[in-house]
Amino acid sequence: MIRYLTAGESHGPELTGIVEGVPAGLPVTEEEIATHLVRRQQGYGRGGRMAFEKDFATITSGLRFGKTMGGPIAMTLPNRAFKKDDAGWPTVMNKETEAEGIEKITLPRPGHADLVGAQKFNFDDIRPVIERSSARETAMRVACCSIARQFLKYFGIEIGGHVLRIGSVGYDSWEAVREKADPLMKNGAESVYKAADVSDVRCLDEDLSAGMREEIKIFRKKGSSLGGIYEIVITGLPAGLGSYVHWDKKLDGQLAQAILGTQAMKGVEFGLGFESGSRPGHEVHDEITYNNDTDRFERKTNRMGGLEGGMTTGMPIILRGVMKPIPTMLDPLGTVDMETKEATETRYERSDVCALPRAVVVAESVIAPVLANAFLEKFGGDSIAEIKRNFEANKK
Ligand SMILES: Cc1cc2nc3c(=O)[nH]c(=O)nc-3n(C[C@H](O)[C@H](O)[C@H](O)COP(=O)(O)O)c2cc1C
Repeated sequence: MIRYLTAGESHGPELTGIVEGVPAGLPVTEEEIATHLVRRQQGYGRGGRMAFEKDFATITSGLRFGKTMGGPIAMTLPNRAFKKDDAGWPTVMNKETEAEGIEKITLPRPGHADLVGAQKFNFDDIRPVIERSSARETAMRVACCSIARQFLKYFGIEIGGHVLRIGSVGYDSWEAVREKADPLMKNGAESVYKAADVSDVRCLDEDLSAGMREEIKIFRKKGSSLGGIYEIVITGLPAGLGSYVHWDKKLDGQLAQAILGTQAMKGVEFGLGFESGSRPGHEVHDEITYNNDTDRFERKTNRMGGLEGGMTTGMPIILRGVMKPIPTMLDPLGTVDMETKEATETRYERSDVCALPRAVVVAESVIAPVLANAFLEKFGGDSIAEIKRNFEANKK
């Protein structure tokens, strides 16, 4: 079973990650990890002071001659801001000594982890909460999950995401999305993300992309923020991953947890999802067909998003997630000073206006270990050679 842990603070010296349970003999490259790290950094809607240096995770153990050895894989990813002389982070985040005059942060932002985090850990300063709850951590998450992604790709399973809606601008129907995404999915889910990445809001439709950019501009001017909805598709899956026999074996439930375990994610649906509650059965369920050429059962449509009974059907998984608007906003919201208990307003710190185009890359990533584990549960082994044998023998 593949598991991973991340450590590190937003403004500490570096993020650290450990991935364990990866079978031996898997080709892994730092360049492939870097591809997704850089994608995570890019997208319209970033905050002002963001002339960023590219993230790069260095693998420090677990790899020999370009292949995994079956042991834990460790990675480090420096926070370049830490070293900048003028930023003062080595003082603010000093691990040993407390310097004089470091201002405490006592104005919690509604919608962020600030207030409850400080209450939970008994802090009189919100800084430690911000440092760990913020989405900087998702950089290492993307790096760790990219190993599982490379495992899936080895077996022909691809993941790709694109944006459906930012604020009030988005596709008006399930069918409109299918028209754009399904032809690309025929060439594998990576074609979806590659086509979406051409747009800086990661939307496959040019007109909608322009509208989304406009929407972000408007709300940036208003000092507000925006969330939205994205879709992740997964192709190349065999039928029968996951299981109906216990609640915690259902693959849809496991995928949902990975998404909802990500900062700012507020909901997940599969296929038609919530809309299936307002359509009759004949407009929801996917009729079964048999393809003599491929020797596979298929579905005429894929409105269930590739999952029935918590198991993959062999059709692509279609998952959608909703991200709430970013809590840090230029135009302040009412809050209470934790120290004085007086009513006041939030103070602005540099922040994105809309992080959805970037969050798509995080969502693509976090589901990879879940899928890899479902795959390993069915075809598992200690080495890639062993898994390959099992997979070939079971192919449906
Ligand atoms: C990729 C990404 C970037 C984010 N950027 C910001 C940001 O710049 N400012 C901010 O206040 N929140 C940002 N967030 C959201 C917060 O991290 C999140 O709302 C906060 O940790 C509270 O967790 P919750 O929203 O899951 O309740 C971002 C989230 C993601 C996934």
